[in-house]
Amino acid sequence: MNLKTISIARMKLALFIALGLPAFWLFWQWAMLLAGQSNGLGVNPVEATNRFLGDTALRVLLITLAITPMRDITRMAALTQLRRMAGLFAFFYVCLHLSSYLGLDLFFSLAKLWKDVLKRTYITLGMSAFALLLPLALTSTNAARRRLGPKHWTRLHWLIYPATMLAVTHHFFMAKGFQIMPVIHASLLLFLLGWRVVKWMRAYSAQNGKKMSNSS
Ligand code: HEM
Repeated sequence: MNLKTISIARMKLALFIALGLPAFWLFWQWAMLLAGQSNGLGVNPVEATNRFLGDTALRVLLITLAITPMRDITRMAALTQLRRMAGLFAFFYVCLHLSSYLGLDLFFSLAKLWKDVLKRTYITLGMSAFALLLPLALTSTNAARRRLGPKHWTRLHWLIYPATMLAVTHHFFMAKGFQIMPVIHASLLLFLLGWRVVKWMRAYSAQNGKKMSNSS
């Protein structure tokens, strides 16, 4: 099957199912746990839930950032239309991650959350990432895009880069001792950012070359 012949509607449906699966899996594990059946949450279901949601949130953020390089490689402009859904899924998992921490770990105590933000570097970093993602989710609608105008909207949505950097650093700071996953996440992010830097540099030098040849 030629990738280019798959309609964007089908791709959206496939992405929706793929990105929804982790939530479904977690929901199922909790249902099994509450029913007293064997499940995949281990001996500490609260910690397992929070970590699973954190990992999923970060991976979906990286998937969102991978859509542009995938579009460049496949030359399928339609892939751009998947970015919003992927970004919203990332935010959905970040919200679940924050809620599971606030609800299951801190028993909804905002005072304790605030204390953690001030005391624990990795929570400060996580909350900062959340704060940067919030305006992106709030302005993800077509109406918000129209209201802001494409230039301001695009500029605002650049926040996804510092937000993902903060999220990766959050993972580094929470990991005790050497762990491979934060290194893998950071390497993927470096690759995705590097891709863009090379692209922008090429576009910049091509533009400068054009200006020089026009003026000579
Ligand atoms: C963009 C936002 C965020 C992302 C992508 C993210 C991602 C992650 C990741 C990847 C982990 C490690 C999971 C593992 O070890 O397998 C983690 C752990 C954790 N995160 Fe986040 N996080 C974010 C925001 C937050 C926020 C806002 C909070 C709470 C205020 C938070 C609290 C925690 C906690 C408590 C842990 C587990 C620490 C432990 O078990 O020792 N995160 N997060």
